[in-house]
Amino acid sequence: MDANTSAPVPPPGCPAHGRIPLYGPDFAADPQAYYTYLRHHGPVAPVELAPGVDATLVTDYATALHLLQDNAAFRKDARHWRDFNEGLIAPDSPVVPLLAYRPNAMFSDGAEHLRLRQAITDAMARVDSRRLAGSTEQISDYLISQFAARGSADLMADYAKQLPLFVFNELFGCPAEVGDRVLFGISAMFDGVNAEKAAEVLFGAVGELVALKRRHPGEDVTSWLMQHEARLTDEEMVHQLALLLGAGADPLRNLIGNTVHRILTHDEYAHQGGLIDEAMDDTLWENPPVPNFAPHYPATDMELAGHKLRAGDLVMVSFAAANNSPALTAARQSGRGNRSHLSWSAGPHGCPSKDPARHITVTAVENLLNKIPDIALAVPEHSLTWRPGPFTRGLTALPARFTALPAPARAHAPHPATTDAAAAQPDTEHPKGAGRWSQFLKWLKG
Ligand code: HEM
Repeated sequence: MDANTSAPVPPPGCPAHGRIPLYGPDFAADPQAYYTYLRHHGPVAPVELAPGVDATLVTDYATALHLLQDNAAFRKDARHWRDFNEGLIAPDSPVVPLLAYRPNAMFSDGAEHLRLRQAITDAMARVDSRRLAGSTEQISDYLISQFAARGSADLMADYAKQLPLFVFNELFGCPAEVGDRVLFGISAMFDGVNAEKAAEVLFGAVGELVALKRRHPGEDVTSWLMQHEARLTDEEMVHQLALLLGAGADPLRNLIGNTVHRILTHDEYAHQGGLIDEAMDDTLWENPPVPNFAPHYPATDMELAGHKLRAGDLVMVSFAAANNSPALTAARQSGRGNRSHLSWSAGPHGCPSKDPARHITVTAVENLLNKIPDIALAVPEHSLTWRPGPFTRGLTALPARFTALPAPARAHAPHPATTDAAAAQPDTEHPKGAGRWSQFLKWLKG
């Protein structure tokens, strides 16, 4: 406990002693109050991620950087997680799907990590930013066309949630029917709706996509990944594609949603270009889409910032707390354009896709504000609610109103790779509620 601060008051819903819960409605309503309280423990604090899931959370910027960069002392491979190995974690705990081991870059160390990560970075580096901006704008136009005439929308469900999934389908070169099942699978997995079935649909669709691209490679991330000198097997391909989707779609949705929320609730951002970058950076500093993550496991018993850790303990970083530590906030205020926040993480496992993610977000927000200049919140700000849980910071809904307008026309001719692939595939049965990618491809064809 910090000796300079006397008797900190726990936020509502937080026990005065013991582990601090990073879940539940009180945490979702005001996480910064929890981070302020956690700081009284010093650079690291004992937390509970879900009932019965203990972790040590780093809340201090310098300690976080040290942890993220020290891949000799800490492991990412979740098969080192002691509590899980000892059967102390309920298999149906809501945090298990994001923490349990999978054979992908995020959960690997050393040479294996380098190999998988190099394939991902090299494939993503081939994405042409102008083409990405063009397809993001087309997708944005399409989604706006679905609600423009109503004069109202839920900008999370109708826009921020859907746009990244459509962009991924385009990036991965998904034909209509496979793309529908990818959209269905990933949405249902994140919504926790029949998660087992959703994962089955998603992995089945991604497996088909890999088989299709082995036969007919194209100008897309799937083909570039499989052509990489790392020579990924089919199984490795499926897991790296699922990682890109899983690690990309939900944070992107929240970065778009949190940035739009910031613009609609802060007068200093004019409803026009230019300031969107600034609004996004301020969001990354103060309301990051991935507030707490970077699970690590000490390789041996050790000390971190004076705190004793045992080999295999779960140690995580609070990007949201580290970004807003008081000393740093003062330094940050000294100049705009400072991007030294930790919201993309740092070190060998830092986000490999921040440039495309920034591009997609700026294009998505800019096009929305350009097409609907008088968009405004439809409800009082205090009535908005945030998704629960430690790893995600995003709104449950963002109701907006505006002058109803005719749907925007298609921006450009459709991208040839997408239409060729779509034409090559019969528009077969989709799981219930899917079919959105097919509809978009039809809309593109006009
Ligand atoms: C195009 C969209 C995105 C893609 C494809 C993507 C992909 C990835 C991948 C593959 C990793 C694992 C890297 C590794 O372990 O070596 C990763 C890590 C990470 N990404 Fe992204 N990402 C995207 C967008 C975002 C966004 C919008 C954010 C939030 C600002 C974000 C935050 C992070 C963080 C914090 C990590 C570190 C996780 C950890 O250490 O466990 N990403 N991302």
